[in-house]
Amino acid sequence: MLRVGILGCGTIAAKIADSLKGNKKVVIAGVASRERNKAKKFAAAHCPEAKVFTGYEKLAASDEIDLVYIATPNTYHYEHAIMCIKEYKNILVEKPFAMSKAEADSIFFEAKNRGVFVAEAMWTSYQPLHMKALEWIEKGRIGAVKYVSANLGYDIAAVPRLNSTVLGGGSYLDLGVYTTNFALSFMGNDIKVSRVFARTVSSGIDRDTSYCLESEDGSILGNFYVTMCADTDKDGVVVGEKGKIKFTNINNYRKIAIYSNDDKLIEEVEADKDFLHGYVYEFESCAKAISNGLIQAPEMPWFRTTRIAQINDTIRSMM
Ligand SMILES: NC(=O)c1ccc[n+]([C@@H]2O[C@H](COP(=O)([O-])OP(=O)(O)OC[C@H]3O[C@@H](n4cnc5c(N)ncnc54)[C@H](OP(=O)(O)O)[C@@H]3O)[C@@H](O)[C@H]2O)c1
Repeated sequence: MLRVGILGCGTIAAKIADSLKGNKKVVIAGVASRERNKAKKFAAAHCPEAKVFTGYEKLAASDEIDLVYIATPNTYHYEHAIMCIKEYKNILVEKPFAMSKAEADSIFFEAKNRGVFVAEAMWTSYQPLHMKALEWIEKGRIGAVKYVSANLGYDIAAVPRLNSTVLGGGSYLDLGVYTTNFALSFMGNDIKVSRVFARTVSSGIDRDTSYCLESEDGSILGNFYVTMCADTDKDGVVVGEKGKIKFTNINNYRKIAIYSNDDKLIEEVEADKDFLHGYVYEFESCAKAISNGLIQAPEMPWFRTTRIAQINDTIRSMM
């Protein structure tokens, strides 16, 4: 049983704790907040058996925790990751993993030196339908990939964290990291940013961002948009020479379906009906990797996280 400690008792941490209730491989063994009462209330509501820690340092140093799940705002991921690694604590870090490629490199450098497991909580990468789509492409079901497109939008402009430059807000860092991970998964690692159009407000926060990616050899084009101002359909498509894969909700895969070039449905697979279940896969993957002595998650290897961080740097510099 992997004993997980939650660092930061916020919105996503609550969903994760609820998702892991009754899990046979992973247990929430501790929760840490900057405020004791907040941690106590969180534990009572979501994981009554968990030990309550006041202050993140105590959780990081605890012998009763195998993996720390870092669920703090984006700009704190680096500091909290390094603090845990220095305590030889395995970590699963919420997306975006870091605020820059330099921060990501530094975290992996420290982790490698100490043999500590580190993974990015890019939950989509660990979902079974993501793997199934990769398998279909690998088997040549749609032929060589030519075009990839996806959108991700939620009406969340009122969320304070998203409007704060200090906390690393904006639609791209919140949602664009998912579309970029989708791009890297289906276009390959050798891609470049060719266009960025961001609608920003005076603070510099991007409320909506559209961008184009292109494979280095020019054979694949990618077109993406994300927004914190509207609920979009969240769909994606990967078009190949022989057909296409349509994705229903690229942020929590509901269904994937292969169509022929003349739009005949060939095969479709639906996800588990339980919405919250989608968060479990990343934790079970960490449990398996750690028990196998790995320091990376096969579904979300370090080179992928580093590449996303590098593309994030480029896109943000082009806004
Ligand atoms: N995978 C997903 O589906 C998903 C969904 C939403 C968010 N996320 C990611 O998860 C992270 C947290 O997002 P969230 O929506 O859960 O945020 P949130 O509700 O604001 O919670 C963040 C927590 O971080 C802690 N924190 C530490 N320093 C803070 C500071 N200076 N200001 C505010 N909070 C601070 C707080 O916990 P304490 O007060 O207990 O110390 C707070 O409750 C982000 O990186 C976000 O991108 C992922």
